[in-house]
Amino acid sequence: MSDSDEDVQLEARLREQEYFRPPARFVGQANVSDPAVYDRFDEFPDGFEEYAVLLDWDDHWDAVLDASNPPFFRWFTGGRLNASYNCVDRHLADRKNQAALVWEGEHGDRRTLTYRDLYREVNEFAAALRSEGVDEDDVVTVHLPMVPALPITMLACARIGAPHSVVFGGFSASALAERVDDAGSDFVVTIDGYYRRGEFLDHVQKADAAMEETDRDPEVLVWTRHDEVHESVSISDDYTLVSEVLADHERERVEPVSRDAEDPLFLMYTSGTTGKPKGCQHRTGGYLAYAAGTSKYVLDIKPEDTYWCAADIGWITGHSYIVYGPLALGTTSVMYEGAPDFPHKSRIWELAEKYDVDIFHTSPTAVRQFMKWGPEHVEGYDFSFRHMTTVGEPIQPEAWLWYYTHIGREKAVIVDTWWQTETGGHLITNLPALADMKPGSAGLPAPGIDPAIVDDRGEEIDPASGRAGNLVIRKPWPGMLQTVYGDDDRFVSTYWEEFSDTGSDDWRDWNYKAGDGAVHERDGYWRILGRLDDVMNVAGHRLGTMELESAVAEVEDVAEAAVVARDHPEKGEVPEVYVVLREGVEASDEVRGRIVEAVEDEIGKFARPANVAFVDDLPKTRSGKIMRRILENISNDEDLGDTTTLRDPDVPEQIRRQVQGD
Ligand code: WT7
Repeated sequence: MSDSDEDVQLEARLREQEYFRPPARFVGQANVSDPAVYDRFDEFPDGFEEYAVLLDWDDHWDAVLDASNPPFFRWFTGGRLNASYNCVDRHLADRKNQAALVWEGEHGDRRTLTYRDLYREVNEFAAALRSEGVDEDDVVTVHLPMVPALPITMLACARIGAPHSVVFGGFSASALAERVDDAGSDFVVTIDGYYRRGEFLDHVQKADAAMEETDRDPEVLVWTRHDEVHESVSISDDYTLVSEVLADHERERVEPVSRDAEDPLFLMYTSGTTGKPKGCQHRTGGYLAYAAGTSKYVLDIKPEDTYWCAADIGWITGHSYIVYGPLALGTTSVMYEGAPDFPHKSRIWELAEKYDVDIFHTSPTAVRQFMKWGPEHVEGYDFSFRHMTTVGEPIQPEAWLWYYTHIGREKAVIVDTWWQTETGGHLITNLPALADMKPGSAGLPAPGIDPAIVDDRGEEIDPASGRAGNLVIRKPWPGMLQTVYGDDDRFVSTYWEEFSDTGSDDWRDWNYKAGDGAVHERDGYWRILGRLDDVMNVAGHRLGTMELESAVAEVEDVAEAAVVARDHPEKGEVPEVYVVLREGVEASDEVRGRIVEAVEDEIGKFARPANVAFVDDLPKTRSGKIMRRILENISNDEDLGDTTTLRDPDVPEQIRRQVQGD
């Protein structure tokens, strides 16, 4: 992408976008409004202490960073703390009657948990977990939807030093089983069911099917969405009802376990280019410090705010910016069970008004949806955000402007936050009072973060040259993953090998590979272009093509399959499947149905392919590698591109004709 045409095009795009000043009423009250913050964090690594001191520590750290064994960086070594204590107990003195979580469920259900309520529930469930045999360092797999039981379970695990591994509620039984096995988990926490669009969904049946598939024999603990098990659900006798265990632990208190700063707090599985999902392992001290620090500096959260991140806690966004960051700061965090358009398309704004939300956090996918529904669904609702966030994928300037105008009413600041499951918290984003906003650009690096753009050989592209390349992060930061659970080699090969001198024990020779393409623009802002590997971004969530292809390949009649991303006006990208059937098998809706079903069963309904195309052959290089890029061009109605290096250069044109007609 270094040719001059590209340069010209990028420059032209830059000129199109104007800057927006943060509103004065925002700047006047911002948590951070002195640009000296950047200089302080330039003191590496000591600058990050500014985040660590936001927490209460049992033992102060000896060193901020131990970089003696890169890329296995250790943060705040010798320090000890408990995440549950930091998110709950320490707020009791000042604000025990303040709402910690405001939960809005479907069917008119709602619950407000004050910090004191949260304290009681977390303690009781921690006692319950212990009595069921959960020990310190046991991994507890949590498969829960957006109900209060989810943050309660996470904080209870943290209290007793048991790392949680939350699996997004929308993931299938197979995905759950795979994560239980990989984590070697002996405990699964689930629920009888939950509501979606007015319907009660049986959730425990996923645990039932997962128990059939897993190699292990975990104990299954089942929360109930109502006081009693829902009449439509049957619970296996092998499982334990949470309500029954809790009855034995009423009003019990559990001393928070003092954890080493480097002890793991949780695992979060994420998709990659190859093989099974990776368990990103996050540490207690560095992660919590980074989540709290960025919540304060980037999201501008204050204890007296009502903050709403409309993501699911089952993804990293919810971990860092619904649960750990906001609660560490002692604010009020809103949690919503339902869909944004049920029972009507003004649901979100109705709630924003009802709870008088100050800070709102969502994804570009959601913004595109609101935009499609039209501004009339927002108008007339009396809410006023001072701060709004986007996360998960690049936001198109058009969508940004719509968000700014119709949701922010030109009075709210917007931060576009670039980060990843692996990074624990924001890495590239403006501090909102300190830099002008530019639609489509994530802005400047967060304090202490040192990104660079390198070419495919790892050579650095000149800073602020406006040329695209691979995004790397040069200095370590406290929120970064510790390793891939149980697989240090994979940690090194996935994130470090390509752009680091792996023989060196000097941390300066190690560059974290983000897997994204990016441009460092001439004005110093960073624009993220999206994934460079075979990973697609569906509605702001990462799906590995490999995982999707393995699911498709499970269908007996499939000989070969490739999955690529097609651009979608609202979801960002959707998976499209190209299939070569086995000899003698006829293409039919029945086979197509089985392929779609396989993806839903293996991964989840949210990964449902938009289209299944039956073709005679797939485009392959002479060495037999499937050229997904060519298929992606076909899916997106783009030029086929260079096909001369293919084993059979005619294949793409044949496919194009088969798919699109002549
Ligand atoms: C990938 C990480 C951590 C947030 C939720 C997604 C893309 C994320 C942005 C942004 C452009 C973004 C990247 C990244 N991404 N935020 N503001 N602008 N792209 O976490 O599932 O780990 O996905 O999401 O491609 O690598 P994730």
